[in-house]
Formats: sequence, C-alpha cells, structure tokens
Amino acid sequence: MSSARNISVSQDDLIHQVSRSLGLSTSPAAPTHSTPSSFGYATAAANANVTASKHLKPFATEDIKILLLENVNQTGRDILASQGYQVEFLKTSLPEDQLIQKIRDVHVIGIRSKTKLTARVLQEAKNLIVIGCFCIGTNQVDLKYAADHGIAVFNSPFSNSRSVAELIIGEIIALARQLGDRSNEMHAGTWNKVSNKCWEVRGKTLGIIGYGHIGSQLSVLAEAMGMSVVYYDVVNLMGLGTSRQVDTLEDLLGQADFVTCHVPELPETVKMIGQQQFEQMKTGSYLINASRGSVVDIPALIQAMRSGKVAGAALDVYPNEPAGNGDYFHNDLNTWANDLRSLKNIILTPHIGGSTEEAQSAIGIEVSQALVKYVNEGITLGACNMPEVNLRSLTIDEPDHARVIYIHQNVPGVLRRVNEILGDHNVDKQMTDSKGDVAYLMADISNVDTPTIKDLYSRLESLSSRIMTRILY
Ligand SMILES: NC(=O)c1ccc[n+]([C@@H]2O[C@H](COP(=O)([O-])OP(=O)(O)OC[C@H]3O[C@@H](n4cnc5c(N)ncnc54)[C@H](O)[C@@H]3O)[C@@H](O)[C@H]2O)c1
Repeated sequence: MSSARNISVSQDDLIHQVSRSLGLSTSPAAPTHSTPSSFGYATAAANANVTASKHLKPFATEDIKILLLENVNQTGRDILASQGYQVEFLKTSLPEDQLIQKIRDVHVIGIRSKTKLTARVLQEAKNLIVIGCFCIGTNQVDLKYAADHGIAVFNSPFSNSRSVAELIIGEIIALARQLGDRSNEMHAGTWNKVSNKCWEVRGKTLGIIGYGHIGSQLSVLAEAMGMSVVYYDVVNLMGLGTSRQVDTLEDLLGQADFVTCHVPELPETVKMIGQQQFEQMKTGSYLINASRGSVVDIPALIQAMRSGKVAGAALDVYPNEPAGNGDYFHNDLNTWANDLRSLKNIILTPHIGGSTEEAQSAIGIEVSQALVKYVNEGITLGACNMPEVNLRSLTIDEPDHARVIYIHQNVPGVLRRVNEILGDHNVDKQMTDSKGDVAYLMADISNVDTPTIKDLYSRLESLSSRIMTRILY
C-alpha cells in the first residue's frame, strides 16, 4: 500500500500554493522531468538520433493526491506510485459521507464498480481532474456531470477480451460433451457413462454474432481447434484466418452448430435472439451468451431447450444480476430463474467471463497509464466522456514551452477568444475537438516564462466559456 505522504514544504511554498490553484508546474525538484517513466514515455531517448521527450508535470508530482478504492490491482498502484504521486489505497469502497470527505482533497480517484460517483458526490470534488474506472463499465459514474465540470473519465473496456474468448472455448467443448451434467451426476454419486449426443468440436461450425475484440479473438482460437467460423456483424470486417462474414443473422443461425453472442447492449441488440431466431437455428445446436443479459430472450431459450431445438446453452450474463455474491439466483431476481436452473446441459456462470488475474492486471496497467498521460500531458485518448485529443510530447530541447489545456463549453466564438489570448505567443501546435456540450483545446506555446503563464492562465479563466484551465510545463 502506498501511504499518503505529507506535501513537502517547497523552496517557494507561496508559489507552490499559487501554482496549485492555478494548475501550474513549478516543481523545483524536477525541472526537466527527464526521468524515464516505467512504461515507455522515454523510449525515444534510447535512440541517439531522436530528441528525448520532456515529461510534462502539472506541478510537483508529490502534490498530486490520488485515492484508490476497491482494491485496485497492484499493477495500477505501482505505476501511479512510481510517478511520485501521493497514493492512498483502500481495499473497499466507502459510504457516501466518507467518500465526500475524502474526495474533496484529491486530484485523481480510482474506483471499480461499487463506488457511485454521483453528481452529489462529484460536486464536492473541487480539486478532481480525472476519474479512473479500473473496470469495464462506467455507469457508476455520472459521466455527463463529470464532463460538464472538466473531469475526464477513463476505463478499460477491452483488457479482458482474451479471458472471455477462452471461457467460450471451454464452454463449447463442455456443452458438446455434456460435461456440466456428467460432473453434477458424479457429485451426486451417479456414474452415467454416455456417448449419445456427445460430439467432438472439430469440423463443427461456430457462428459468432459481433466480431469485435472478443468475437475476433474467439475466431482464432476456434479455428485452431478445427472449427469453421462464420460471423455476423453490422460492420464489414476482414475475417481472421479462414473465417467468413455472412450477410444476415438468419444466414448465420442456419449454418452454425454453436452460436455465440458478442454484441454490445444497444436498442437493436435487446432480445436479438428470441423465439424466431431459435426457430432459425439448426436442431441440436447450442447457444452461448457472455455479452449482455438483455441480448437473449431467456423464456424463449427455455422453450427452445425444452423442445430439443437447442441441445445446450451457456449463460454468463442475465437481465438482472445481484450486486454482491450470495444466494440470489432465484425467481425473485429473474422470474424464470428456477426454470432455467432445472434444464439439462446448461452452464450458468455469474458474469465471470472477464474475471481473471490477467485481466485485472491488464486493467490496472491500462487505466493507470491513461491517468498518468492525462495528469502529466493532458492527453485524453480513450476517455469515455471527453473528446479524444492528443499532441506529441514536448522534447527536452523545448525547455521554455508550456502546454495549455482549456476545457470549455462548446459554444460559438470560443476559439477566436482563446486565440486572441494565445495570439501574442508562438503556438507550436494546437488541437481541439468537442463531444456534446464540452470542447477540449490543447496548445503548446514556446518562449514563455512563469509570469506569462500566470497571465495566460488568469485570462483564460476569466472567459465565460471556461470549464477548466490547466497549464503544464
Ligand atoms: N461476460 C463478461 O464478463 C464480459 C466481459 C467483457 C465484455 N463483455 C461484453 O461482451 C460484448 C462484446 O464485447 P467486445 O469487447 O467484443 O465489444 P466490441 O465493441 O469490440 O465488439 C462488438 C461488435 O459487435 C458489433 N455489433 C454491434 N451491433 C451489432 C448488431 N446489432 N449485430 C451484429 N453485430 C453488432 C460491433 O460492430 C462490434 O464489431 C459486450 O456486450 C461486452 O459488454 C462481457
């Protein structure tokens, strides 16, 4: 655990205080920020012909306070601590009143799915610039409120794709061999050696609905086991290996021995597998859903399995899922739960598709790297509530440069006013983009000193369009 450290009294505490409130970099300890980070910012430095990147810092890094809740993976904690930030780590989430107390003080908060960052909580977070969701989903955060107040949110949507793909491979074989039933029987003391309706998967056809991060990984693994792969996607996508895209869902359902869903939850994917689709499937085929619980009409699946149309199924996701572990999978949660549990050859898992040590570790790395890039360089690539803006790093040959970040309301005329303010300086590069009501401008300006930066800062802050101004150097 990285314990919180006191902010060291700097050589010029007054400037520090002013700079903190201004969002300026004044770190006397690290004027050029040339220490290579542990994850490759300075790879260019290894090449003698390339000028090393200058590591921007918003202010002395020991001033950056981070609160990590819910047992964020060690990989993420290590990356943040290695930046010299003050990292406070807690294993659990916090009740709202304690969360409000803590969030008032921090610049960065890292959470998983249990911590609810509502508008009520976020309005207390006066210093907060960024939220890291060390998980896939972001519906625990009021993304709009955060964006409207200049707080970027990052998550890790694809770190567990491989874990899900591997689970599906396991399930394909388990269903084809009725492993769940045989294992349950043995646990109950029954020896039941059967080969009837047990199959090899070699030579069978896998139909993948949604050929994105998970679907495409799965396709490679399935072909390695000798399966043929067809996929259906709303986007035209190049198939990996010898997999083939088909034009319609019906086409896929008519060919596949195993049908597996890997689509996002959208109005058009809700119950995309229902009674009609089960009728279009081959008799004796199998259905797998580890995407979202709304994608499959479960009463229709129960019907299709009872009639023998579907020979087996594996479900990892459900329309209603309990908030915690326990004895919850009954009709109180989903009205059909008891019927589902009574079926033969059905594998029911509690949303564990992405739950592996590897995925947690990858999430820790991906989210904390995004947080560092945002805190140190203002880069929003991968943010889920802000426009994605990137500028190449400043180099150590550019010592008097500063990076201006101006998050503002997306209203006409702002760029003209900002450029009037920046106009007396040499703007080396500039990028701006908007998302909904919020726009994000990033500009690198040269030949500036601290008084100039303070002047720029206060003039940008005085614009009525301002949401948040940060200046890094
Ligand atoms: N069970 C778990 O633990 C777990 C873990 C990770 C992801 N997931 C879920 O798996 C699903 C897929 O994740 P991913 O990372 O592969 O997503 P992705 O965004 O990479 O891929 C989704 C694919 O579905 C396609 N698609 C969208 N609408 C479609 C439609 N109507 N018909 C056909 N194709 C459509 C998209 O074009 C895209 O190629 C998501 O629902 C995600 O929430 C579950």
